[in-house]
Amino acid sequence: MQRLRTIAQWRDYAQRQRDAGRSVGLVPTMGALHAGHTSLFDEAKSRGDVVLVTIFVNPRQFGDPTDLGNYPRTPEVDHRLALQHGVDCLVEPTLEEMWPDYPQSTSTTVTVHGVGDLLEGAGRPGHFDGVASVVAKLFAVSGACRAYFGEKDYQQIAVVRQMVRDLALPVEVVGCPIVRDHDGLALSSRNLLLSEPARDQARALSRALFRVTDSNLYASEMRRVMRALMQDAGVQVAYADVVDPVTLVPARDDQGGEFRALVAGIVDGIRLIDNAPVFVSPRRD
Ligand code: PAF
Repeated sequence: MQRLRTIAQWRDYAQRQRDAGRSVGLVPTMGALHAGHTSLFDEAKSRGDVVLVTIFVNPRQFGDPTDLGNYPRTPEVDHRLALQHGVDCLVEPTLEEMWPDYPQSTSTTVTVHGVGDLLEGAGRPGHFDGVASVVAKLFAVSGACRAYFGEKDYQQIAVVRQMVRDLALPVEVVGCPIVRDHDGLALSSRNLLLSEPARDQARALSRALFRVTDSNLYASEMRRVMRALMQDAGVQVAYADVVDPVTLVPARDDQGGEFRALVAGIVDGIRLIDNAPVFVSPRRD
């Protein structure tokens, strides 16, 4: 496995692969790797030739400096997992390479309105500007590729897809299924920060989603059921919504069909998100 740190080496590596007729599968991460990430490496390996993983904890997508400071970092585990899963190239760019002006604000920002303004975007102002800006840079350096993202960050994928469409970037975005722990909790690097009792409370997010998945409820009933279940478990609910799977616009009660339920909540100071596809029944009265 190659390990690179500079943009010049990384750009050159990706270009050489394409010149040799090999396709590039990019998996952007912030490290603290777990089975959710390695499922992306495996998917990239099975669908393409070369798997290029980036690890960069992007300060521009964290509103709160404490959240950035507390973000888990596990470099030895990351390296081992990348090796075990056949990653060809691990890129760990420095902050100076990625955002040379930091901590001054960077002049260039990519903003995705619409899908980026809702849900996480409303609750964490500037978060998706940070995500879109860094992902645009990862794509600019990597060049033509397939890029793999986990569906746990469902809205992130919608934002990235919109950006790729609007800027005609030569990237195919592939969304991969959420990987869950045995108790239903969606795998997330932030789970490392949960105490045992907090982890128990955190399970309420997936339980809320599973409760409405095949419930035949209409949209606002689903929202009510999910919110109540999370609140009863002591989760501070940020949102519990049922939305169009592409535009993320909230479902109306007279609508039925395939939608996406998304939940977010704060447990012991840690913000967690989860989502699932749901079949919504239209309200009849
Ligand atoms: O999902 C993540 O880990 C990050 O948001 C990403 C896509 C690597 C951008 O920093």
